[in-house]
Amino acid sequence: MNMIQTIDLTKRFGDFTANDHISLVVKEQEIKCIVGENGAGKSTLMNMLYGLLEPTEGKILIREKEVNLKSPTDAIANGIGMVHQHFMLVPSLTVFENILLGAEIKKHKCLIDEKTEIAKVQELIAQYHFELNPMDKIEDISVGSRQRVEILKMLYRNVDILILDEPTAVLTPQEVDELMVSLKNLKKQGKTIVVITHKLREVMELSDSVTVIKHGKVIGNMETKDTNEQELAQMMVGRNVILTVSNNNMVDEQAEIIYKADHISTANIFGKKVVDNMSFCVRKGEILGIAGVEGNGQSELVKIMSGLMETTEGTISFHGENITNIWPKEIRNKGIGIIPEDRYAQGLCKEMSLGDNIIAGYHSRKDVCRRGILQRKAINSKRDKGIKDFDIRVGDMNGTVAALSGGNAQKIIVSRELTANPDMLIACQPTRGVDIGSIEAIHKHLLEYAKKGNAVVLISSELSEIMSLSDRVIVMCKGKITGEIEPRDTNMMKVGLLMAGIHEEEKNE
Ligand SMILES: Nc1ncnc2c1ncn2[C@@H]1O[C@H](COP(=O)(O)OP(=O)(O)OP(=O)(O)O)[C@@H](O)[C@H]1O
Ligand SMILES: [Mg+2]
Repeated sequence: MNMIQTIDLTKRFGDFTANDHISLVVKEQEIKCIVGENGAGKSTLMNMLYGLLEPTEGKILIREKEVNLKSPTDAIANGIGMVHQHFMLVPSLTVFENILLGAEIKKHKCLIDEKTEIAKVQELIAQYHFELNPMDKIEDISVGSRQRVEILKMLYRNVDILILDEPTAVLTPQEVDELMVSLKNLKKQGKTIVVITHKLREVMELSDSVTVIKHGKVIGNMETKDTNEQELAQMMVGRNVILTVSNNNMVDEQAEIIYKADHISTANIFGKKVVDNMSFCVRKGEILGIAGVEGNGQSELVKIMSGLMETTEGTISFHGENITNIWPKEIRNKGIGIIPEDRYAQGLCKEMSLGDNIIAGYHSRKDVCRRGILQRKAINSKRDKGIKDFDIRVGDMNGTVAALSGGNAQKIIVSRELTANPDMLIACQPTRGVDIGSIEAIHKHLLEYAKKGNAVVLISSELSEIMSLSDRVIVMCKGKITGEIEPRDTNMMKVGLLMAGIHEEEKNE
C-alpha cells in the first residue's frame, strides 16, 4: 500500500516557489530518504505532510485517501508523526511528562491515571528497545536519548508513519549508529519512515528508496540499491563533488604563536570541573582541531575562548597580550572571530533581516557605521557579496533569517565571520546541517583563510572533518587534554582511544 502520496504538491511563499509540483510515493514499511541541497525544499515538504504548512496547490494522500491536514493534530490523527531537527522538549520535566504533554488521557475527566500511563510508556520502551528511564529529567539526559524521547512521543500517539528532519545532525557517531539500529527496528515492527539527511553514507546504509529534490522539484526517485554516494552527490549539486577536501597547506613549525591558553579551567554550576587545566597554543597559518566526544568540555572551552564564561585559573594571551576573561566584544575587536555551535541561540537573530545579521557583532565598524548611523547601502552590498560568495540560497533578499532554510542560515554566519577577516577564527561545527556541495566550499574557504597566515581553532563532532582539515589535533576527554596528534600520520583507532580517555601506553600495560 502507498502510505503517503503527494500529487503536484506546491508551496509558494509570496512569489517564491519552495515546492514545485512535487509528486512522490512512500510505500508501507519502507525507509525513504529525502536528499537535496540547502534550500531545496525538503523541510517545507515535510511540514506540509505534518500539517504545519498549508499547500498552495496539489494533493496529499494518506493510505490512498486524500486528506486535508490543517494542523499537527490532524496529521497525528492520520497516523503521521514528525521529529524536528530542533527538539521541542521541556528540559525541566521528566521523560514521562514530556511524552504525555499535550496528550493527557484523563481518568474521570480530571485526573491522569499515572500508573497505567507509565506502564504504557515502559511497554513501548521495551518493545522498541530504547534505553530510557521514564523518570529521568530531560535536562539530565544526552542528546541521543532526547531524540529517542521525541520518537517515543510519536509512538505513544500511535503513529505508523514517522518523519525525521535531519535526525543525525546533532548526534555523536555512536549515537548515529544507535539511531540507525532503532529505525531499522521500527521498520521491522511495521512502521513507515521518512528521513531527511545530508549524509549520503546514512542514505546508503538505511534506506530502501531515495528521492532527490532540487530547487523545489523532484529530480530523481530511485531504489537505494540502484544508486551510490557519488551519483547522488552529482545529482544534488549538478557537478562532481569532492567528498573529502584535504589540507595540503604547510605550516612553518617556527611560525609565530598567536594564541596561547595556559592552564585554564572552569567549573559548571555544580562545582564540577568541566575544563580542567588545559594548555595549548595556535600558530599563524595553523588549523588546530579539537576532537572529543560531545559533552566533554568543548562547549565550555569555546565559551571561555569567546568570553561567555570565565576561566578560574591560568591565562590566555593573543599576539602576546593578556586577554584573560575580557568581554566578548573586546575579543572580536582584538581580531578573533567565532562561528558558534548553536546557530540560532548564539549566532543569529532570526527576526532580523539578512543584512543586519551579516554585520552583527561588527556593526560598529567604519565600513558600515558612520557617526553612529548604519550605512544601509554598504550593508546591502556586503549582504549581496556574502550571498554570492557563499552561494546562500535566499527567497527574498530583504527577508529575515527566519525564512532561510537551516543550512543557508549557517552559511550566513560562516560568510559573516570569514568576511570580517579576523586573525583567528574559532569554528564550532562549521558545517552542521550544511549540504555536501557547501561543505566542500566551506572547507576550501577555511583552508584558504589559514593559508593566508590566519589561525583556526576547529571544534567539530565530525571526526572526518577534523582529521582532513587540521594540521594538528588535540583530543579532549572529561575537560582534559588526553593527547595531541598529527592527523596525517595517525589512525582513527588511536584517536578513538584518546577520545575515550585511554592513552596508548595504558592500553599496552
Ligand atoms: N516561511 C518562509 N517564508 C519565506 N520563504 C521560506 C519560508 N520557509 C522556507 N522558505 C524558503 O523556501 C526554501 C526551501 O526551504 P526549506 O527549509 O524547505 O529547505 P531545506 O531543503 O529543508 O534546506 P536545509 O537543508 O538547509 O534545511 C528556502 O529557499 C527558504 O528560504
Ligand atoms: Mg531543512
